[in-house]
Amino acid sequence: MSTAPITLPDVELAKLLPMEQLVEALRRSFSEGCSAPAREHHPIEGSQGEQGMLLLMPAWSPPGPTRYLGVKQVNIFPQNAAQNKPALTSIYNLFDGNTGEHLASMDGNTITGRRTVAVSALAARYLSRKDSEELLVLGSGRVASLIPYAYQAVRDIKRVKIWDINRASAEQLQSLLVTDGFDCAIADSLEDAVRSADIVSAATLSTTPLVLGDWLRPGTHVDLIGAFTPTMRESDDQCVAMSDVYTDTGEAAHEAGDLIQPKKTGAIGEDHVKATLSDLVTGRALGRESDASFTLFKAVGTALADLSAATLAYEAARRI
Ligand SMILES: NC(=O)c1ccc[n+]([C@@H]2O[C@H](COP(=O)([O-])OP(=O)(O)OC[C@H]3O[C@@H](n4cnc5c(N)ncnc54)[C@H](O)[C@@H]3O)[C@@H](O)[C@H]2O)c1
Repeated sequence: MSTAPITLPDVELAKLLPMEQLVEALRRSFSEGCSAPAREHHPIEGSQGEQGMLLLMPAWSPPGPTRYLGVKQVNIFPQNAAQNKPALTSIYNLFDGNTGEHLASMDGNTITGRRTVAVSALAARYLSRKDSEELLVLGSGRVASLIPYAYQAVRDIKRVKIWDINRASAEQLQSLLVTDGFDCAIADSLEDAVRSADIVSAATLSTTPLVLGDWLRPGTHVDLIGAFTPTMRESDDQCVAMSDVYTDTGEAAHEAGDLIQPKKTGAIGEDHVKATLSDLVTGRALGRESDASFTLFKAVGTALADLSAATLAYEAARRI
């Protein structure tokens, strides 16, 4: 007998996705794998050219008695801002992977934000120094604001610094983090902050390098979440060239400006990326080689992580 699908709006969903459990669920998912076809972009034409974009990210888990199938739908309508409406609407639909029955509808932005920072934290478990204490967050938007909570799940973070081109936004995030018990300060100088950080995590819309290789001290881990097109980037050629580079999936090498641009200039070769997150969690790749290594993780996002987070939330909601 099928039951009505459950609805999980943002606040409820966030409570069902505590970072420690989410990082562990992602570790299992990246280790087991799933089917995740290439994401689809469909332009939505308007009367005067393009009006919007439909993005679809499907995934389904391996065959078994319990199996899930999910699709994230993201509608991007940039001109909405003029009407004071959000430019991005996102829903995640979860189905029974054996029968196709609809199980749940969830807030897609919450799934994206939380799974993104948890993926970075999972990678940092293999790539950052175990004694990393100081975290520098670049950006203070939807994703960046979750970064300290995720890193806290994998490292004993003692200090957080925030840098953003929008200082008022950085200050807002600082006050939120201080309320939540973080020792948190605004970074006045990006260079000084990068020089003293153990981990630098960026989630911005930058198209020019923010993290310069020249500023990194041995042992630093750099986590780049933002740039998702060939023309965007958050690091310079030197930063990528001097680092042991890992990615969330193989797609990152073909989509991310941080990897495509240094390849174009010849700063790195075709085989510069050492391994993917799946290689790290299964032990096919070993991760950080020494306390002095420079490591860099570049993510562009994967439907596997969406499915993993949605499954965790659904199963937790069913237990309540
Ligand atoms: N890798 C992934 O899986 C994944 C998932 C979700 C989002 N993202 C990416 O992360 C980035 C942030 O997403 P969000 O939802 O938090 O966006 P947001 O709009 O909420 O925040 C963007 C942040 O970038 C800052 N910013 C804007 N322009 C900048 C510039 N030129 N230089 C430096 N900082 C700048 C803004 O001040 C803000 O703090 C985007 O590029 C998004 O595509 C990646």
